[in-house]
Amino acid sequence: MTEAATDVRVDVHLGPGEERRLADDVLDGLTKPFKEIPPKHFYDARGSELFDAICEQPEYYPTRSEMAILTQRASQLVGDATELVELGSGAPTKARILLGAMTEGASRRYIPLDVSESALREAAGELIEELPDLSVHGVVGDFERHLDRIPGPLNGDPRVVALLGGTIGNFPPGTRRRLLRSIARLLRPGDRFILGTDLVKDPRVIEAAYDDAAGVTADFNLNLLNVVNRELEANFDVGAFEHVAFFDRRRQWVEMRLRATRASTVWIEALDLQVEFAPGEELRTEISAKFTPDRLRSDLKAAGLDLRQILTDPEDRFAVSVSGPVGSRAG
Ligand SMILES: C[S@@+](CC[C@H](N)C(=O)[O-])C[C@H]1O[C@@H](n2cnc3c(N)ncnc32)[C@H](O)[C@@H]1O
Repeated sequence: MTEAATDVRVDVHLGPGEERRLADDVLDGLTKPFKEIPPKHFYDARGSELFDAICEQPEYYPTRSEMAILTQRASQLVGDATELVELGSGAPTKARILLGAMTEGASRRYIPLDVSESALREAAGELIEELPDLSVHGVVGDFERHLDRIPGPLNGDPRVVALLGGTIGNFPPGTRRRLLRSIARLLRPGDRFILGTDLVKDPRVIEAAYDDAAGVTADFNLNLLNVVNRELEANFDVGAFEHVAFFDRRRQWVEMRLRATRASTVWIEALDLQVEFAPGEELRTEISAKFTPDRLRSDLKAAGLDLRQILTDPEDRFAVSVSGPVGSRAG
């Protein structure tokens, strides 16, 4: 479905039939020996709101650290680009900074891509109010499947493709490199790819970020069960699960899990499936890999990207890297 307004256009590639994706992931994930559901299903309208609230929590340093880098280095990051393609865009906070650093009047264009239609439309509406020369072409889709739906550049100007917020860390190494390779294919000579990655640091700091005292991350995690209940007519008793987050020191990633506090039997009508949880059994809902500069370098290289710069915040908690297509140093 495509819908055009004066300067906002939104193409929707998720829709009826898309519950099949959730259904397939839940069927696969809940029948594995170790249960898991991929994190992209967190983001219904409520999940997107809760993620924005997580970003405001005092313990959640990644947003503040990344914002410090973007704010200080925005012009350097965007160079002479006039278009920003943001994958997993969410709230417009970071796009506002990057678009704001692009030359005014140079027909700036924002191309957000997100699974959350509500978050994308809200972001588009806010930015169009603030930047009168901006046009927005949003893509409601899955960046693992719909990168080919991203519109091409309007003019010959270079553009920036961004994947921020540490979202790349949600993928285990093989999938991560596959996603980076498909992003590399989006880039033309002169384009640049800006990637936000959370860095390895004191595990206590990391663990606190994923288990804030106000319980917002816990609500975000538990909301996944509401999504499954609503979309797949399941009867998870959300009160029978608790939020768990820990840093796996060997793999250097955070895991978020939902732990059954008592034995429970869940019926998922849309899958005709009954799932048993033993007391204490855990369902993995997210990994969030933390990076060293070496890991970042080797992932980008394996994806065919030419790493040009790694920028970090003053506390070295987060990195924003700039890379480009191999063999093109302009831009
Ligand atoms: C960790 S949040 C980051 C949001 C924002 N970019 C930031 O830096 O704060 C992940 C975002 O990616 C979106 N998302 C997650 N998986 C996705 C997928 N497979 N395809 C498209 N968007 C996805 C979510 O809806 C959410 O807005």
